[in-house]
Amino acid sequence: MTTIFSKTATTLTPPFLVLGIESSCDETAASVLRYTKEDDIEILSSIIASQDEEHAPFGGVVPEIAARAHMQKIDYIIEAAINDANIEYTDLAGIAATSGPGLIGGVISGLLAAKGLALSLGRPLLAVNHLEGHALSPRLAAPCAFPYLLLLVSGGHTQLLSVNGLGDYTRLGSTVDDAAGEAFDKSAKVMGLGFPGGPNVEKWAAKGDPNSIPLPRPFKGKDHADFSFAGLKTAVARAWEASDKSDIAKANICASFQNAVGDVMRERTLRAIAMFKSLHGELAKRFVVAGGVAANKALRARLTELCDTEGLSLLAPPLKFCTDNAAMIALAGAAKLAAGDIDDLDVAARPRWPLDQRAASANPASGYGKKGPKS
Ligand code: KG4
Ligand code: ZN
Repeated sequence: MTTIFSKTATTLTPPFLVLGIESSCDETAASVLRYTKEDDIEILSSIIASQDEEHAPFGGVVPEIAARAHMQKIDYIIEAAINDANIEYTDLAGIAATSGPGLIGGVISGLLAAKGLALSLGRPLLAVNHLEGHALSPRLAAPCAFPYLLLLVSGGHTQLLSVNGLGDYTRLGSTVDDAAGEAFDKSAKVMGLGFPGGPNVEKWAAKGDPNSIPLPRPFKGKDHADFSFAGLKTAVARAWEASDKSDIAKANICASFQNAVGDVMRERTLRAIAMFKSLHGELAKRFVVAGGVAANKALRARLTELCDTEGLSLLAPPLKFCTDNAAMIALAGAAKLAAGDIDDLDVAARPRWPLDQRAASANPASGYGKKGPKS
């Protein structure tokens, strides 16, 4: 195959405009971003189409339905992002798209759309790691100096990352099974609370007693910063089965579950803070929490209290930047373009793509084998 853009192409000097495309889970999103320098960016548009309605009857994201929905909507979403930014396609300097990790059908939809645009416009393709987008997402809201410790808690990921600089990330902890949001969604499904489960569990938890039902705290006391939620989720299902299924039972189980997640989050994060401090010494000053689960007020309160005790400032970017969006993909793509790190058109979509490959290979938190480390 002829290589149209080689990785050794000359670096493009900012300012420039980059289109970002995101389709790795259940949000179809596109965004145009002006990149002047690392900490000087402007979001010209950010369009997000959620698939909550499509997945609600199943109580969770169905990969096949997600892929079809991305495929149907992606061109309109891109068009809307271009129109909203009030630019022409030819004004773009590069096309960025999530090329993993994620649900492969969705990733392929977005990446193919990006390849088509890159090819027809004659612009470089920037294949972005979705996790790198999340790692940089606090910078969409306001300048945030490196290094910072990032707790990413969403429906797809639960990770603690030291964000050392552009392209330089150390994984300190990761879930070995379910993501925190998944545990919220599956617990909600068991109790018939609707999808997405997190906000509903939070609502019911406000009416219950957080100490009424004994639930496990997975990995409590372990000398690492990994998470596990599968056992907690099963314990919730058992507690619900054993209950009288009343509203009081619902409220008490939700409150006890949220309390257990809060305890786990606090303890695991405390371990990661120690690691972060030993990596960066006096420079270890900032803690960022991102992802849909970060919307939970009780969890935020626990983390705020932890940061106060540990002498870190807590940053919680507005939810529109820390849940899945394409502006974070455009930002990570623009940083790649500024560094001359562009991709060939035959770049692959990757269901697995650890951000910190060294940590993933040396200490795989989950999923290893023929297919390689997952996180
Ligand atoms: O980052 P996000 O929007 O996207 C994906 O992971 O795709 O996160 C969605 C997750 C869902 O699992 C949802 O139940 C959870 O975030 N979530 C919450 C709350 N709001 C959303 N979990 C707990 N409490 C909330 N208030
Ligand atoms: Zn995500």
